[in-house]
Amino acid sequence: MLTEDERRLLFVQALQARERAYAPYSGYRVGAALLTETGQVFTGANVENAVYPLGLCAERVALFKAVSEGQRRFRALVVVTENGGMPCGACRQALWEFAPDLWIWVLDVSGQVHWQGALRDLLPHAFGVQDLPADEGG
Ligand code: THU
Repeated sequence: MLTEDERRLLFVQALQARERAYAPYSGYRVGAALLTETGQVFTGANVENAVYPLGLCAERVALFKAVSEGQRRFRALVVVTENGGMPCGACRQALWEFAPDLWIWVLDVSGQVHWQGALRDLLPHAFGVQDLPADEGG
């Protein structure tokens, strides 16, 4: 869990990241702030493309930035959208790989909390590394 101050700071960082979203096609801007266990924050914004399926969600931008910088352990994620929209299924699965116990806050731009809870509750019966046969390499 987070202190009120920690959550406020992550909200501001996600809000600022949302300003940097590149979403000319959907017009739906999303910002994310991911807190590592060591106290670092990685932000992300959605980045769309004229080839629509290439766009990436804010949550995965933040996650991939963090992992590619050597961080794999996370405490919390704050997501900011215009209306409190929830993280998509693909992002839930991507986050599950590293942080099944992640605590997630979903807020709108005014700072109102629309949802908070554990990733476990957003992705029940998730597929994970334990489901892969141990003896079958690529
Ligand atoms: N989007 C996110 O960034 N995160 C989500 O969890 C839901 C959707 C983005 C993707 C796309 O750029 C836009 O919102 C509309 O779907």
